[in-house]
Amino acid sequence: MAVERTLSIVKPDAVGKNVIGKIYSRFEEAGLQIVASKMLRLSEEVAGGFYAEHRERPFFPALIEFMTSGPVVVQVLEGEDAIALNRQLMGATNPQEAEAGTIRADFAESIDANAVHGSDSPASAAREIAYFFAASEICERA
Ligand code: TYD
Ligand code: MG
Repeated sequence: MAVERTLSIVKPDAVGKNVIGKIYSRFEEAGLQIVASKMLRLSEEVAGGFYAEHRERPFFPALIEFMTSGPVVVQVLEGEDAIALNRQLMGATNPQEAEAGTIRADFAESIDANAVHGSDSPASAAREIAYFFAASEICERA
């Protein structure tokens, strides 16, 4: 295992439910550190570029509509095995299939409004972190 960084997003449904802090607690209780964080409203262009790999999928228009429907909170999480650990904390893409106690099982309603995003590989983590944060916006933690 190595110390990794991963890109996480608290999606508009979870921001709307006022559970940003509860989701941040899941990260911190699991030993991940938040090393960068900001709230923003995604434009269609920014959301579309972020999810470019899904552009040809049937759910893409609904995904972009959802991701631009309200503010999101974007963060970089750092820790041992952070990419896989965050995916484990998130649970399955479809909350109905997510393991009990995961973020999606506890806070998400449906596959299209599923509370959180997390990078799925070192390559996507590198791309997604650079998509939202300049190096100067990421803080070294003790
Ligand atoms: P994906 O990268 O497959 O899931 P994850 O977020 O777990 O990495 O898909 C990206 C997002 O697209 C997903 O979080 C919600 C949306 N989506 C749908 O709305 N319907 C679907 O059938 C799939 C696969 C994804
Ligand atoms: Mg994905």
